[in-house]
Amino acid sequence: MARYLITGGCGFIGRHLTSALLGDGHDVTVLDDLSSGDPAKLPSTAHLEEGCVTDADKLAKLAEDADGMFHLAAIASIAAAEANLERAHAVNAGGAENAVAAAVRSHIPLVLISSAAVYGAAGPEAVSETYPCLPLSAYGADKLQSEHYATEAAQNGGPGGKRLAATIVRPFNVYGPGQDSGSPYAGVISRFIAAALSGAPLRVNGDGNQSRDFIFIDDLIGLLTACVSRTRPGTLIVNGCTGTATSVKVLASEIGRICGGDIRTEPGLERSGGVAHSLGNPGRAAEIFGFRARIELAEGLRRTFNWQKGTTLQ
Ligand SMILES: NC(=O)c1ccc[n+]([C@@H]2O[C@H](COP(=O)([O-])OP(=O)(O)OC[C@H]3O[C@@H](n4cnc5c(N)ncnc54)[C@H](O)[C@@H]3O)[C@@H](O)[C@H]2O)c1
Repeated sequence: MARYLITGGCGFIGRHLTSALLGDGHDVTVLDDLSSGDPAKLPSTAHLEEGCVTDADKLAKLAEDADGMFHLAAIASIAAAEANLERAHAVNAGGAENAVAAAVRSHIPLVLISSAAVYGAAGPEAVSETYPCLPLSAYGADKLQSEHYATEAAQNGGPGGKRLAATIVRPFNVYGPGQDSGSPYAGVISRFIAAALSGAPLRVNGDGNQSRDFIFIDDLIGLLTACVSRTRPGTLIVNGCTGTATSVKVLASEIGRICGGDIRTEPGLERSGGVAHSLGNPGRAAEIFGFRARIELAEGLRRTFNWQKGTTLQ
């Protein structure tokens, strides 16, 4: 049994990660400022510390009692970050700097959740981790800076000279039960399902040919829990992806099929910071962790749809 600290553990990915680690018999402490996370949805056996990752002392103190840390806390969408750039920078880059410092000080491995947004407009080919990072958004730039903090501490060591064991995960588009469809920053899958359930048209931004690599939440959690077993000092960067691209148009029709009804689409606006294609190469995660995304899109959508339908009917 190990004790893990999860920042942002009340959010979509954090709650699933918390449940998985508790299910494996570990202790979990969550640090979350509840800015978007819901404490009522956190498993009751997790210990919740309300606080902000910009509070370096609090993070350092919590890290002292942990065997490993997952840093997820962030203003987690491009649009939400753009709505308040200064705050987003303080949280997304500054919070990561504090997480790195805390992990170095306590000599614990860090799994840092970055984002595929670091790649920017990579084109339709599958990007591997060596692909040049040219983020197009402030969110992506802050995520890249957060990676630099971890890499620096892993190469050169921090206070006390100890080098950090850092695993940096770049998730692509994560979806699944528990994702907030009510937020103005909700991901495309939860927005489409919410629209389909209410009989509203599915708003397809741009021409609908833009494509994404959608990874089901359980698959990503499998990768994250494997990552924390890496305790050797140094940096490892891995994509969290499936290697399969799906266009937004195809996604809309697949959701229509699952709904079993006629869905209507309507054109929406192009989102700022948007990239036409985003597809990851999962080869490194496969080679190092034996990782393979197992949940096909149709199955993942079905599970997400059923969950969202259940919460809508409540
Ligand atoms: N969901 C995706 O598709 C996706 C893709 C790539 C990367 N990511 C990254 O994964 C991580 C988790 O994303 P998510 O989808 O679960 O987002 P989320 O918004 O559901 O969860 C983020 C959590 O962090 C908390 N938080 C925000 N600011 C904080 C602060 N200053 N101090 C402490 N807690 C704070 C929120 O209250 C929330 O509980 C983020 O770092 C995000 O950038 C997510």
